[in-house]
Amino acid sequence: MTRDHDELSLAPDGLPLCQQPQWRQDFPIDVAQDNYVSRREFAKFLVLISSAFSAGQFWILFKNWQRNQAAAPPVQKIANLADIPVGGTLLFRYPNEHEPCILVRPDENTFVAYSQKCTHLSCAVIPNVAENKIVCPCHQGYFSLDEGRPLAGPPQRPLPRIHVEVQGDEVFAISVELRSI
Ligand code: FES
Repeated sequence: MTRDHDELSLAPDGLPLCQQPQWRQDFPIDVAQDNYVSRREFAKFLVLISSAFSAGQFWILFKNWQRNQAAAPPVQKIANLADIPVGGTLLFRYPNEHEPCILVRPDENTFVAYSQKCTHLSCAVIPNVAENKIVCPCHQGYFSLDEGRPLAGPPQRPLPRIHVEVQGDEVFAISVELRSI
């Protein structure tokens, strides 16, 4: 709904335009009309904002769906049992050559593996099996060895976990779990 121009004030003193000083007659800016927002314009604004918000949500859903559709990482042999004694660690790359990872054997039957990239600024983390921690030397970040969760320092997110499986006397990496909390 629009408002009739004549309904609006033309001057603060309320006098008609012909009685206004020359400068105001030359530039008859109606402040009230200038600031007036019709219901239709307001509704358009709300629809536009809602549409933009919905589009953003759909975009996030689409990206999540796309990520889930990405090819599953390969099952890859990463070690022989003999290569990694109890208390030992081993470096490997998974799921591709650009992703350094660490395999740790805290006890006879337990193997844990994580990405070696610190979740703060991607420095290489180092396992400390004796203290049950993984340490990032760049800014003194600490992660738990059994879960890869941040314990102290700047990192806020856990290390991506590499799921491993022992088959016979070989250890295989089977998937990557990206974790945000
Ligand atoms: S890069 Fe690891 S704590 Fe900063």
